[in-house]
Parts: sequence; C-alpha cells; structure tokens
Amino acid sequence: MSAVFREDHRSIAELIAAQKAGYSLDQRFYTDPAVYELELDRIVYRHWIFAGHVSQLPDPGDFHVRNVAGESAIIVRGSDGELRAFANVCRHRGSLVCLEDQGHVDRFACPYHGWTYDTDGRLFAARNMPADFDMEAHSLRTVSIGVVHGLIFVCFTDDPLSLDACRRDLAEPMAMFDFENLKVAAQKTYDIPANWKLSIENYQECYHCATAHPEYARMHTLMLDHRKRDRFQQKMLDAMAACGLRDIHIDRVDSAAPPGEMGYGYSRTALFDKYLTGSRDGQPVAPLLGALTGYDKGASDFNFGPFSFMLAYSDHIVAYVFTPTAHDSSKCEIYWMVRGDAEEGRDYDVGELAWLWDVTMISDKEIIVNNSKGVHSKYYQPGPFSGMEKAERSYVEWILRELQRADEDL
Ligand code: FES
Ligand SMILES: [Fe+2]
Repeated sequence: MSAVFREDHRSIAELIAAQKAGYSLDQRFYTDPAVYELELDRIVYRHWIFAGHVSQLPDPGDFHVRNVAGESAIIVRGSDGELRAFANVCRHRGSLVCLEDQGHVDRFACPYHGWTYDTDGRLFAARNMPADFDMEAHSLRTVSIGVVHGLIFVCFTDDPLSLDACRRDLAEPMAMFDFENLKVAAQKTYDIPANWKLSIENYQECYHCATAHPEYARMHTLMLDHRKRDRFQQKMLDAMAACGLRDIHIDRVDSAAPPGEMGYGYSRTALFDKYLTGSRDGQPVAPLLGALTGYDKGASDFNFGPFSFMLAYSDHIVAYVFTPTAHDSSKCEIYWMVRGDAEEGRDYDVGELAWLWDVTMISDKEIIVNNSKGVHSKYYQPGPFSGMEKAERSYVEWILRELQRADEDL
C-alpha cells in the first residue's frame, strides 16, 4: 500500500465528501479494505447478479455454483422442477457443502462430516445427532433467486430489489431475441487482479476502444462521434423492421431505476457496413436469434443491475458479469449464448463465436491491471472524465450515493 494511503486518516464519509465531481475516484476507493467491506454490505450483496440461463439446469438435480465476493450460492432445480438457490454453507459447522462447479445430484453431501441435503435444501441425514435434534430447523439457508425471461439472477440478501419492472419493460426487447430459449454455447472466467470498480468502469466507457481494441473498433460504431455515427445508425434503423426488430430505448439504470426495483436498460447501436455481427470477418457465426429474419447490422446493449451486462447481436448474445473476489481483485465471467436449437459443429463454432470478446477481454484485463498499478502509486491523483466517459461517471456517482445510504434504508 502506498505512503499516501497510510497517512490518510479520513473516514469514509469524509472521503466521499471530498470526492471532486467529474473526476475519477480517490485512491482509497480502490485500495482500502474498509471501503470494500462497506461496498459489500451496501452494494454487492444488495443487488442482483446474473447467474446463468435456465437451459443450463434442465432436469431436477441439475445444479451449478456461483461465487460472488466471499459468498457462494448453489443454484439447483428441485424435484418439483423449481429453481432454488442456497447458501453453500453447511448447517453443521459451516463447511462448503458443494465443491464442484456444476453437475447433477440426488442429494448434496457435505464433505466434512457427511450431512446430506435434499435438492429443496432440507436436511436429509445427519449421523449421531441427539434424539431431540431438529432436522427441520437445519435446512440450507436460502439465497434470493429470480428469473427474468430465461435469465437466472441471484442476490445475497433476503430482501432484494424487485425484478418486476425489469421483467415488464424488457419483455419486448428480450422477446425479439427469444431470451427464454437460448443456450449457453461457451463460458469463460477472467480473473483480474484489480478492484472490481476498475473492471466495471472500464466496461462502462468506450473512450479506450479506439486505442485498445482494434478488433472491436473496426466493427462497432460506438466510439465515433455523434455526427459520424448517425449515418450508420440511420441505416440500421431503416433495416430493422424488415429484420423483425423494433427500435426501443430504455434507460432505467442505476439512479434512474424505479424505486425499490433493479435498474435496467436497453438500446441498439449500429455496426460498420461490412459487419452483420460481432465476428472476425463480419459474417454470421450462428443462426439468427428468435424470429429475426435478417441482419440489421446492429448490436443491442442490455443492462441488468450494476454487475451484469449483455450485448445482443442478431445471431448471438454475449453476457458479462463483473464481481469482486477481494478488495484488490475481481473477475469477469463471459457467457456466449445462441438460439436453443443451434448445434455446435453444424450451426456454430465456439472458437469463431467467442473470438471477438475473448480477445477484447484479454486486452481489457491488461488495461485494467495497468490502471490498477497506477492507481496504487503514491503519485496517483484523480483525473477528469472525458465526454466519452459519461456512463462511467454516472456509475461512480451512483456508487458514492449507495455508500452513503443511511443504515435504516438498507
Ligand atoms: S460441516 Fe458439514 S457435516 Fe460437518
Ligand atoms: Fe474495453
């Protein structure tokens, strides 16, 4: 830790009050474990986080585990067909119950002393316990779970934000791509040795795209200034209807979220002429999604709360989930999704499908780590945001507001 940090005795409240508007965050927001602990309580565990697609757990007993910061959730389909989420913490003495990332079980058996749990979380067997031991009172604790048109979300609080407004307002854009019937064709986790906010801030801005992402920059028009972009945007708008798409713009992210609801957003941006989709040569990499009938040369941004983002091309969807793993490390989980009836080998090739966002994320990781190294320097001081970092600015301002929430609001 730098000398600057060691000599800074300001409280977190003082730190927030001193934060200069329109500037990147003070060093301690990225380096101080006490700030991170507060973020876990007030932000990370309060918000929904994407945890996979329902198609990944088709049968009773199918499960996967999702880890967020220090918490671990088992997501399992019960014998009644319902999806449930449980804390991966044994009710005996607290061991992790499930050590596999995914699989199929009849029951979960804790590896420590062998307590077993049904897929509905109930304790099924515990050896050598006293006669008056109450099995019923020792079910696995629940983690909040919600499904939005096929997407699974978990939240590590018993009193999560509502998903109703998101489910309602994104119903039409999600139906256009038939989110209910996707399948996960590929999944990859990128460990990033940097504070989680640096990872998400980087995702929020495309000021760096032209310099850092030649692959992305040659197909996406997002980094063009408005006048140049409008020409491509208009072409896409003109093509949309014939392809089965409607122009929809929704901005209820972060501070614009309806009270008590998870934030959400949707918009579509043009690709350059040569690109039908986000692929190496611009040509299709999978069958058209849903009822789409052609390529409008666009890509849609979906926002689901503060940690989960998706990009919908006409033939595949890429989901990005950024979460902390500790105060100075984070991870990005990327899911590549195609229509549910597409077959690998016949309809898509995973290498081609995943190419763009794999190379882009590998570059992003390097940028984020370099950013983190500089931010830890005693010479770091917050710098001004550019006009192309508006979403990032609004994101960090939202974080500061969340950190200041009165305890009674939690
Ligand atoms: S901690 Fe799980 S059985 Fe003992
Ligand atoms: Fe990037």
